[in-house]
Amino acid sequence: MKKYVIEGGNPLFGDVQISGAKNAAVAIIPAALMVDGVCRIENIPQISDVSLLLTILHDLGANIRTINRNTVEIDCSRVHNGQVPYDLARRCRASYYMIGSLLGRFGLADVALPGGCDFGGTRPIDQHLKGFRALGAQVEVQGGFINASAAEIGGRLRGASIFLDKVSVGATINIMLAATLADGYTVVENVAKEPHIVDVANFLNSMGADIKGAGTDILKIRGVERLHGGTYSIIPDQIEAGTYMAAVAACGGQIRVCNIIPKHMDCITAKLLEMGVEVEEIDDNLLVRRIGPLMKTNIKTMPYPGFPTDMQPQLAAALCLAHGTSIITESVWSSRFRYADEFKRMGAQIQVDGNLAIIEGVEQLSGAQIEACDLRAGAAMVIAALAAYGTSEITGVQYIERGYEDVIEKFRKLGGNITAVEVADAEEVLSAG
Ligand code: UD1
Repeated sequence: MKKYVIEGGNPLFGDVQISGAKNAAVAIIPAALMVDGVCRIENIPQISDVSLLLTILHDLGANIRTINRNTVEIDCSRVHNGQVPYDLARRCRASYYMIGSLLGRFGLADVALPGGCDFGGTRPIDQHLKGFRALGAQVEVQGGFINASAAEIGGRLRGASIFLDKVSVGATINIMLAATLADGYTVVENVAKEPHIVDVANFLNSMGADIKGAGTDILKIRGVERLHGGTYSIIPDQIEAGTYMAAVAACGGQIRVCNIIPKHMDCITAKLLEMGVEVEEIDDNLLVRRIGPLMKTNIKTMPYPGFPTDMQPQLAAALCLAHGTSIITESVWSSRFRYADEFKRMGAQIQVDGNLAIIEGVEQLSGAQIEACDLRAGAAMVIAALAAYGTSEITGVQYIERGYEDVIEKFRKLGGNITAVEVADAEEVLSAG
């Protein structure tokens, strides 16, 4: 077991290189399964969710070659259909994209129900299943597995018109995957528009798919017979970039966030400006500076181009140190404030009431022992600990490493005093004793 030990109180200075987008990578790897040839994927982040999905592909017969740290070649020409087992699927939410890709390629998918970050409530996939059914699949959920089959319509999905009842990133991508190799034309309305949805569509199109409308409310997909190989580079991670920007807001200092698409950052930049943080766009970099005091602001999470739910914990960490009272309204996930109790241990004044968090800014936070409860909450705790006076120890860091490449090295390069320490967990100590 690993924990992070952080000595807080240093402002951050220097450059940070942003990695490829996690949420794009975890969809593009399952999408590669539909490619009948070799696809080379560049700018893949080295995170545990990516390794896990590559393992699932490998187990299904994909030939995977690591070209360098952030480039892989995946050859799925001899991939076979098979069950995606519980012990792999439960460790990563994005394993649900294997349903869309297996169903698209083989007309049959048998995938254990996914795991991933638990936001304290259920994470439904009814819209994904509604889409598969509309495309002609028989879908059953049994014994913890989702079994989807196009056998009754000859083994290949059929294009359809689908209207999503809820704007969902996962359902949009999963239906897009399934429809890519379907017979005929699919129109999906009320879809999500996040940058990584556009990235997955661009990946599929570069391999021969015919997808239009990604980034708008309506996706139009003309099914193709097969996808061919090619090379694709994943977009920079909007949330990773936002996390480092939030860290400067909380700690003070000046950093250059490098290798990003500034447009994707607008929703986050707007809030930081309201908080008194200076943000300057220079080509594909953002210069982020906080010298003066932090000001309160209100945040409401919304689907893109609104403020992302995946950024509210990190901004909450900074708002704990802002002048005045800030209100965060979480409108995507009903309960995503489980970090609040950990922040309170550090001296934060934060009250949660349903989908609202009310934060009364304090002069300073103090180091404490805290536990990461999900990926973004974990990142927020790193930010709070870097800004706090004294030493913090963060456990549960496996959540953080699901989604942040080289987080220790990147913060250290900015002057953060953060170290990863291996500790024997209670069970190991007992069995050793
Ligand atoms: C993805 C991201 C996650 C991010 C979220 C929102 C991955 C692996 N995960 O999750 O990091 O927090 O987008 O940006 O990329 N919903 C339904 N029915 C469904 C699906 C979703 O009601 O079938 C609801 C959810 O309860 C939630 C909202 O829709 O309230 C958004 O969920 P969705 O966009 O699907 O999130 P994920 O794709 O699971």
